[in-house]
Amino acid sequence: MKNSVVFKVNPQKPDSRKIKIAAQSIREGKLVAFPTETVYGLGADALNPDAVSKIFEIKRRPFTDPLIIHISDRKDLFSLVREFPEEVAKLINKFWPGPLTLVMKKSNIVPDIVTAGLDTVAIRMPKNQIALSLIKFAKTPVSAPSANLFGRPSPTCAQHVIEDLDGKVDIILDGGRTDIGLESTVIDIAHRPFRILRPGGITIEEIERLIGRVKFASTYSSILHSPGMLKHHYSPKAKLILVERNNGQIDKMKRLALRLKEQGKKIGILVTSESRNKFNGFEIKTMGSINNLRACANNLFSILRDFDREKVDVIIVEGISSNGLGLTIMDRLRKAAKEKII
Ligand code: TXA
Ligand code: MG
Repeated sequence: MKNSVVFKVNPQKPDSRKIKIAAQSIREGKLVAFPTETVYGLGADALNPDAVSKIFEIKRRPFTDPLIIHISDRKDLFSLVREFPEEVAKLINKFWPGPLTLVMKKSNIVPDIVTAGLDTVAIRMPKNQIALSLIKFAKTPVSAPSANLFGRPSPTCAQHVIEDLDGKVDIILDGGRTDIGLESTVIDIAHRPFRILRPGGITIEEIERLIGRVKFASTYSSILHSPGMLKHHYSPKAKLILVERNNGQIDKMKRLALRLKEQGKKIGILVTSESRNKFNGFEIKTMGSINNLRACANNLFSILRDFDREKVDVIIVEGISSNGLGLTIMDRLRKAAKEKII
C-alpha cells in the first residue's frame, strides 16, 4: 500500500501552499489528517456524505458514533444549526477558538451520516492555525474525529497518526505536538439543563463560572445521551490497571506490581513526578507534576503509546484527584482501564 503524503507545516506560520493542496483534497472528497490544539483530527468535507463515510471505514468506527464538525469562523455556525439558546454567544465569545464542542439542533444541510441520524450536531472552532487555514481554504466545514484507529489512544503528534493510519489517509499535515493533548469538552446545549457529555480541555469549573450550573453525567449515563461515549476507549494494547487516589494508594500499586512481576509479566508504572522515587526497580514513566495538570494531560496519550511500543503487558497507573483538568485525565484513564482498584 502507498504511504500517506506527509507535509511538515510550521504551526505558527503555516505555509499556505501546502495547506491549499490539502484543502483541495478535502474539496475532492479525500481525507486529510491535521493538528488541532487538542489532538490530531481525521478530516473530510462535512457536507459530502461519501467523503464522511470513508472516515468511518478507515477508523473502523461504528456508524452509530457521530462526528464533530470543525469550522474556521464563528459565523459558519449559523448555517449548520437551527436553534440558538441565549448562552451560545457567551460560550463562543469566551471559548472559541478553543477546545469546547457545542451540541445543538442541526439544520437540514448537515448530512445524517455525520450525526449518526441524530437531530443534533456537534460543532467546534479549533485553536490551531493549520486547522483554521485548512478549513478556510477548503471553503466547507470539516468533520473530523480523532485520527486514530477506533478505541486506541488519540494521536498527539503526526507519528501517532502514521502508526494507525499510514496509507489510508491521503495527506497528513504534521504540525508537531498538540498543545493540550486531550480532546475537547463536549456540552449538549440542545436540551435543558445543559449537560457535559465529555469532560475535556475546557474545565467544567470554567463553563459554570460563565453560564451557571451544568449537569455532568457519569460515564454510564453519558453513554445513553451520547452514542459515542463507549466505556472502553483510549486503550493501549497493554492491560491498564488504574489505582484510584486514596489512603494506601502507593502501597497497593507496589504490591500489585510485585505480584504481577512474580507472574512473569512486564510491568510499566505511570505516576506523577511526586511519586517517582517510590518505585525503584520498575520501568517507570511520569506524566508530570500534580501541580501542573496541563503537562500531565499533554503527556498522557503519548506515554500510553510509548508503553505499547515497549511491549509492556500491564500498566499500573496512579490515579489523581478529579479537579479541573484532573477530571478529564481521570475520565480518559477510567475509560482506558481494564481494571480499577479503589
Ligand atoms: O478535541 C476533539 O474534540 C477532537 C479533535 C479532532 O477536534 N475530536 C474528537 O472527535 O475527539 P471524536 O469523534 O473522537 O469524539 C467526538 C465525540 C463522539 O464520540 C460523540 O460521542 C460526541 O462527540 N458527539 C458528536 N456528535 C454528537 C451529538 N450530536 N450528540 C451527542 N454527542 C455527540
Ligand atoms: Mg476519538
